[in-house]
Amino acid sequence: MMLSTQKIDVGLAHDKQPSRIDACRLISLWNITDERGSLAVIEAAKDIPFEVRRVYYLYDFTGLRRGGHAHRSLQQLFIAVAGSFDVILDDGRRKKAVRLTNANEGLYVCPMIWREIVNPGPGSVCLVLASTHYDEKDYFRSYEQFVAAL
Ligand code: TYD
Repeated sequence: MMLSTQKIDVGLAHDKQPSRIDACRLISLWNITDERGSLAVIEAAKDIPFEVRRVYYLYDFTGLRRGGHAHRSLQQLFIAVAGSFDVILDDGRRKKAVRLTNANEGLYVCPMIWREIVNPGPGSVCLVLASTHYDEKDYFRSYEQFVAAL
């Protein structure tokens, strides 16, 4: 498993303290490519730091913002299995924007990160692996309540 560096970091230049957002990282997925095409593999709790309890995907993007919330305990991996989009991450101190363009990499998002998914290209599909079943109580849907809980 290879880790790549942050693509865009829009944190304040003087803010050099470790930040929760540093735990969010791109993970290069194991890939097998031959004359038939490519196959990407993710083994839970091995290639990614959590067991997978739920899988969902976003498709038919209209261009309106998705996300706009944080999770108390949920861990996720976002993959652009088709097309591309930006994931904006915010831990209340720093922001980072990551553009996902390759089906052979996933963006790991740790708990307590405010996120938005924006700028989808045509035909994009966002596959999400999640560490828990759906639980509305795990959401912060208000940014003010999220920041107050940090
Ligand atoms: P939401 O998490 O707000 O979507 P996004 O982050 O993409 O904007 O979910 C949208 C709606 O779908 C909301 O009513 C909750 C529901 N939902 C489920 O029922 N189960 C799920 O696993 C997810 C992710 C959402």
